[in-house]
Amino acid sequence: MLRLEQCHLPEPSAQNGSLRLTIFNAGNTAVPVEKLFFTSLMRPIKDAIVTGGTFVRRFANHVEIHAEAGFEIAPGASWDITVAGLNLTPKNRTFGALSAWIEHEGTVTECLVAGLDRPDDMPRAPVKDWPEPKIEVPVALIPWPAEFAVLGMGPAVMLRPADQTQAAAFVELGALHKRLFPTAPDIVTLGDHPDAVAVRCVEGVCPTEGYRIEFADGITLTYSDLNGQRHGLIALAQMAHAALSDPRFRFPKSGYIADAPRHEWRGMHLDVSRNFINADGVTRLLDILAWHRMNRLHWHLTDDEAWRLEIEGLPELTAIGSKRAHNTVLPPQFAEGPSGQSGYYTADEIREIVAHGQALGVEVMPEIDLPGHCTALLAALPHLVDPEETEESYHSVQGYPNNAINPGIPETWPALEKIFAAVADLFPYSYLHLGGDEVDADSWSTSPKARAWAAEKHVQAGAATIQSAFMRDCQQMLSKHNRKLGGWDECADGGGVDTSALLFAWRSREKIAALMEDGYHVVATPGQHYYLDMAQGDGWDNPGLTWAGISPLQEAYEYEADVGLPENKGKLVGLQACMWSELIDGTPRFNYMAFPRLSAVAEAAWTPSEEKDWPRFAALSRLMPQL
Ligand code: ACM
Repeated sequence: MLRLEQCHLPEPSAQNGSLRLTIFNAGNTAVPVEKLFFTSLMRPIKDAIVTGGTFVRRFANHVEIHAEAGFEIAPGASWDITVAGLNLTPKNRTFGALSAWIEHEGTVTECLVAGLDRPDDMPRAPVKDWPEPKIEVPVALIPWPAEFAVLGMGPAVMLRPADQTQAAAFVELGALHKRLFPTAPDIVTLGDHPDAVAVRCVEGVCPTEGYRIEFADGITLTYSDLNGQRHGLIALAQMAHAALSDPRFRFPKSGYIADAPRHEWRGMHLDVSRNFINADGVTRLLDILAWHRMNRLHWHLTDDEAWRLEIEGLPELTAIGSKRAHNTVLPPQFAEGPSGQSGYYTADEIREIVAHGQALGVEVMPEIDLPGHCTALLAALPHLVDPEETEESYHSVQGYPNNAINPGIPETWPALEKIFAAVADLFPYSYLHLGGDEVDADSWSTSPKARAWAAEKHVQAGAATIQSAFMRDCQQMLSKHNRKLGGWDECADGGGVDTSALLFAWRSREKIAALMEDGYHVVATPGQHYYLDMAQGDGWDNPGLTWAGISPLQEAYEYEADVGLPENKGKLVGLQACMWSELIDGTPRFNYMAFPRLSAVAEAAWTPSEEKDWPRFAALSRLMPQL
């Protein structure tokens, strides 16, 4: 039995200090070792200096070190390795090694990995700094409505359709509630139950997606479109759920609610490449988004680490690109051990997920991340690599070598056409997101084929200009499938794509205005506030990444994207939370990082700024469902 313990040594001689790994043999026989493998987001850069073994390879976050010939760890003894020359200094305990294993004569033994030791000068700090909840109005609604004029409160009620021809909408509402809260009392009944209030649903004049609820002698719900009806029913369901299951809450008896969303796009992005979430998990997430009256899932299906969707005619993409394991072309990364992980969605699963979202008013926008972030794609389709490109001529910010797809390889284009055709067939939503983020500045610089392609198109040499020309060509290909381009904010660089694109401003708050100045429609998703994988506070025991900043709940809640924006140029279409999944190794961590910051973004996207209220949100957000 092997256990790895670790600390950071801030020696001034080595870049960013060094990581010391100590592997204890807690068993009662000697453990022979040839090779050590570990994964760590704080990784050695090219000229790493290793003591206790020999540095052999680093592939993104995956590191291989060899022991001296004949080396073994005696029972009760330990093996010390230091790795100096790191890309980062640690900010919390998740920065160290996340998994490790040793190999001897082909046999692999996994180590149990302890978190990185806290340095003396690093405070522990509160893990989640929950605010004092305050409930002034005993009604539970998230997002809070635009106008809340409830005058009297009554006891808990169930909801029933006043007109049985509208029963289907109530059955669907009850089913959504049951999926989200399987142990809670029923909130819907079709019978003439003494605890039920009749809800009359009527079409009338309301803003898009808006609704009005009158509480007087029963309930009247007015709306002008199906989404408005669903939002109104979900608002009633939230209030009924809280009143029926928590004695602090009541149900409105008189007065009204008049409501409509502040933003058209109220989205969540989900990265399933770094860590996979199966079809049931994605389906449940759609339920959670609908309960928050959110209406977009931006599904990040491909990245360097894995390709997660079946494409007809390109079986290699999933056969090779969806699997990471020891001794395969894509090695394990992050917290997984030598068995790695695999997973992808079949075309049938995708169709079911898309239909589930549509029934709840949540459109699913797929992302195929191009032209960078293509390691898994190129591992599956190696004929798309220019054989004359110098190996490891550049590394992405995540440490992947030569990870950009090459526009100068003729076979690249028919492969992309197959991918776009398959994706357009699976996803009816009008936008298809093609990434465009984080293309390294040296991409294609040593590829004669890419340079010839750029010269032929009269594009100046340079990664940004080549990427821009590539994206414009992709944009035209999408238009033949009747799809518009979605992309990260870099799509405006190097000449930019056509302004019919919808761009996602992530690098800074200032990007929102800058993209609008360029005439784009923009979704604001600033990493500083809306990246749910960022740590929620300073301090060693706050897990999460920090490269975009620390994102405390209150700051996420109070951040206002629509200040200082240009008038009559471009458009701020909405807001989006993003869950990048390098560290999201299962449901407990997903929930810990996502909630309640996701609810904070949902309320920011729906509720007018003057109706936002931090203590109320702090109280009500605890009632929201989790994955
Ligand atoms: C991004 O965070 N690379 C969009």
